[in-house]
Amino acid sequence: MIDKEFHVLGLESSCDDTAAAVLRFETSGRAHILSSVVMGQNALHAAYGGVVPEIAARAHSERIDLCVEQAVKLPGLQLKDVDVIAATSGPGLIGGVLSAVMCAKGLAKGLGKPLIGVNHLAGHALTPRLTDDIAFPYLMLLVSGGHCQFLAVKGPNDFSRIGGTIDDAPGEAFDTVARLLGLPQPGGPSVEQWAKTGDPNRFKFPRPLLDRSGCDMSFSGLKTALLRTRDALVDAQGGLYDIDIADICSGFQTAVGDVMAEKLSRAIKEFLAVSPMGQTVAIAGGVAANDYLRGRLAAICSNHHMSFTAPPLALCTDNAAMIAYAGGTLYQLGQVDDQRLSARPRWPLDVAQPALLGGGKKGAKA
Ligand code: KG4
Ligand code: ZN
Repeated sequence: MIDKEFHVLGLESSCDDTAAAVLRFETSGRAHILSSVVMGQNALHAAYGGVVPEIAARAHSERIDLCVEQAVKLPGLQLKDVDVIAATSGPGLIGGVLSAVMCAKGLAKGLGKPLIGVNHLAGHALTPRLTDDIAFPYLMLLVSGGHCQFLAVKGPNDFSRIGGTIDDAPGEAFDTVARLLGLPQPGGPSVEQWAKTGDPNRFKFPRPLLDRSGCDMSFSGLKTALLRTRDALVDAQGGLYDIDIADICSGFQTAVGDVMAEKLSRAIKEFLAVSPMGQTVAIAGGVAANDYLRGRLAAICSNHHMSFTAPPLALCTDNAAMIAYAGGTLYQLGQVDDQRLSARPRWPLDVAQPALLGGGKKGAKA
């Protein structure tokens, strides 16, 4: 156990955000974010309707040094003041993951500091402890463009997957829906905006896997149903009116909400059966930005007398503060890597579970 204050530099480049952050860990274990720099790449990928791995990888390698420089300078520190270097070493787009890993290895070697490889999903899953000091165990719903899983978080290194998507992640489905309807990317915010004025009942989209027991989810059939609806409207009318777009968005979002709400209800029961002390459900990932879905999930938690929490949006989406936090936590436990650290495209958090078919990592944002 580390009994003195230390600074962690965290690096993240597993998808389309290049990020660096510095955290100060107190002797008590509490951590404070001193800086969190995120350079997004939406503009670089906008023309392609999704993340292009080669473009992402090049942008990461061009920007990671700049992110590090800014993250260290912002709180008035120098590189020599950093005690630990942590980097996402998977899962993610391999060309991108390599940027943070190689940069972290170079820094650790050059500065003679410990190096720690962090699982990106663990970074997301531990964030509620950084932001709200939530006690173990808690139930985490991670929903983003590349991920979708219910995790029982029992310790810094102890995660059980209770369920997840068997094909696409929900963020990917939102992005696809936006693409099919000609709305701007990323699709989540566009679809949510249009859904506000739509009629959720005009189109009845399927609620996949609700008839099956367990907490697994599926979103690909929903996309297909929506495609058919769009094509039928275009055939009949020669195009889509604004009201059609709003009604489709609303019907789609409501279907996602119904599925997530029911599956969360089941996940809470499963979680409490093995972790009766659990009191909290946390949500993270870009889809957690959706007010409608948050409302639906919060209502389910309230029915089950569980508290519901979501980190601030900037820490729900990809960032390096969560990586520095997870890295610092591992450092406190004495779990340090060395120069053999490698980048891993796939790295399930719960190795005891068989891999899900799609694992929610089918989209570009894997
Ligand atoms: O966590 P994130 O920034 O990146 C990764 O996927 O790793 O999540 C981005 C995803 C995108 O698919 C985006 O469409 C979705 O989160 N998203 C939303 C909303 N805002 C972002 N989905 C639904 N509603 C939103 N308001
Ligand atoms: Zn992520």
